[in-house]
Amino acid sequence: MILDLERWIRGEFTEINTALEEIYFAEQAIVLSERSDVDDLTRRLVRDGETLIGRVAQRRELPAGPDARYELLGLVGFYLGACRRHEVEPDQARVAPLAMALSSSLGVAPRFSSAHQHIHNRAVDGAFYTFTTLDSERIFLTYNGLAVIAYRRAANALLSIPRLGVSNPLAAYHFADAVAALGDVLRHSRKLADELDRDRFFYNIRPYFKSHRVGSAEYRGANAGDFAAINAIDVLLGLCSPHDPFYQWVTTDKYPYVAPEDQRLLRSLVTTESLLDMMVRELEGPLSPSLRENAELFLEACRQHGAATVFHHNRLVLPFLAEPAADAPSRPDLTASGPPLEVVIETLARLRDLRAARPRPGLDTARPALDRVRELLER
Ligand code: HEM
Repeated sequence: MILDLERWIRGEFTEINTALEEIYFAEQAIVLSERSDVDDLTRRLVRDGETLIGRVAQRRELPAGPDARYELLGLVGFYLGACRRHEVEPDQARVAPLAMALSSSLGVAPRFSSAHQHIHNRAVDGAFYTFTTLDSERIFLTYNGLAVIAYRRAANALLSIPRLGVSNPLAAYHFADAVAALGDVLRHSRKLADELDRDRFFYNIRPYFKSHRVGSAEYRGANAGDFAAINAIDVLLGLCSPHDPFYQWVTTDKYPYVAPEDQRLLRSLVTTESLLDMMVRELEGPLSPSLRENAELFLEACRQHGAATVFHHNRLVLPFLAEPAADAPSRPDLTASGPPLEVVIETLARLRDLRAARPRPGLDTARPALDRVRELLER
């Protein structure tokens, strides 16, 4: 029965969504209704999804493995995300109990999250789960996925360093790996910015990520940043602090939306000492060649992390979201997460300035500590 749902999501579901997107795009509309072709398609979407999910729910039996349960939550979540996108209401009584049961067994929100699109997206015959067959969605998911994988590689490299110590010659390998991986984040983000069609992304892809209701509660939208590696990098590099109330809010808000294994990593960050603190402490003593090499690589990793976040803001968030939103007909739900767009942009700007250690009045960034590292190296 789960297999029938999976086949439908991989097949007819994407075809219906694609057909609807093509109609909206041709009409320059965000969504349309009271048109017989649109209404036929959305009715089919709602009805077939309800039937297939309802059948799985009726068995009252969940897959034993957590990965299989998380994947099933993604299937129900894609369906609910598509209903929200087309502004049609499924029968929550038939669909929500399965999402809720999966959510409580896994300890995550009962909706799809971006982890269902990058780190937990099982391909069959070379095709991973998507909402549509549009090229823009494939481009977005591919480069976003590659950037997330590169962030995870950087985080794994940095997480290996505390046990070695920052002056260990072996740590140079991990620092260099982190620098290369963060360079890859920027490279994939650039490809995304170059290849993604602005209007297609804004009108036909992003609307699937909106906030929506499951049962009686509303859950915030999915966003490309719902994975823990980026926070591990922030904290290990010492650019963000798990004791800063603003940053605590960022990570707490994210908690139910990351994959279960990422929750463990997020939790561990509260007690993680930063490599920056370790570096300053060691640099205040004798300067060995390996400590010098590692400190230079550490500073390079901070620069790369800053560059990727500045790129995200200036070349992805502003042109692909803020600018088209300014041109679009006014609607209250244009951002994925729910808060007004200006609030989302301001939060991201604050994160950007922390990550890039930019001097900014009223913001406590790592700039003075990074300058201290540089000073100690130039002794
Ligand atoms: C067209 C492309 C993209 C756009 C328009 C975009 C936009 C946004 C927006 C608006 C947010 C704030 C969350 C919200 O909606 O409330 C966000 C968060 C985030 N995005 Fe993107 N994004 C894009 C691509 C990417 C890519 C490729 C990555 C790389 C992995 C990425 C990483 C993040 C991260 C990490 C956050 C969470 C904030 C944080 O913890 O730093 N985004 N993005």
